[in-house]
Amino acid sequence: MSRFRRTVAEFFRTGGVGANVTVPFKQQAFDLVTYVTTRAQQAGAVNTLVPLGYGQLLGDNTDGIGLVRDLQTNLQQKLTNRDVIILGAGGAARGVIAPLIEQGVASLTIANRTIEKANLLVEQFAQPSLHACRFDQLTIPTGALVINATSASLSGQKLPLKTNELAHAECAYDMMYGAQPTAFMQQAQQAGITAVHDGLGMLVEQAGAAFQMWHEGAELDTLKVIQKLRESIGE
Ligand code: ATR
Repeated sequence: MSRFRRTVAEFFRTGGVGANVTVPFKQQAFDLVTYVTTRAQQAGAVNTLVPLGYGQLLGDNTDGIGLVRDLQTNLQQKLTNRDVIILGAGGAARGVIAPLIEQGVASLTIANRTIEKANLLVEQFAQPSLHACRFDQLTIPTGALVINATSASLSGQKLPLKTNELAHAECAYDMMYGAQPTAFMQQAQQAGITAVHDGLGMLVEQAGAAFQMWHEGAELDTLKVIQKLRESIGE
């Protein structure tokens, strides 16, 4: 039995009412649970564990709804009829494709360094609004929303995006966050985009959605949590 599996079992055996799971354990969590929700199935990953009794676990994925809530509710970014670009085709990208499409985006383009991975996602989701391209093929429609779902920000690496192309976007969102603006956020600022955001709000909103699962719909004051977290990291 893996250490992750043992830790989860022990947590629920000793009365844990719910748990969030983060990188790099979301796939292991997916394999471990008894049932998965449709959105976890689509994401291919589990970030929320809900005990069902008798040692059984439900696996959910609230990352997509977390992103959608942060963009739409907190940041007032329209998704319906919007051109949206996702940079990256790994687990982080996969988890947010279906929730973004559900909001009625005009188009969703997955740009990735390795085109094969982006093509695979397009095949899997099979939606007419979904397209794949390499970074050097990317054209960004005016007013688009560009979301960084690559792990490049983790290592402080810039993405191979043309500044004059990026400048067409109206909003840039990095699913990563940190005390300082990420490399992608800096690229977006340099391109002249004024609405540039990190993923702290997504982190809190996915937790808020998970909290509701664990506490019979009880709502978390997510805006207050975001504010407190920003204060604590010295922003
Ligand atoms: P995660 O689950 O966090 O999405 P992942 O599955 O390892 O992590 O995927 C990482 C993503 O970041 C991939 O899309 C990867 O591109 P490749 O598919 O070409 O590997 C992308 N990525 C990581 N570092 C990058 C960099 N320096 N430039 C461009 N893309 C990068």
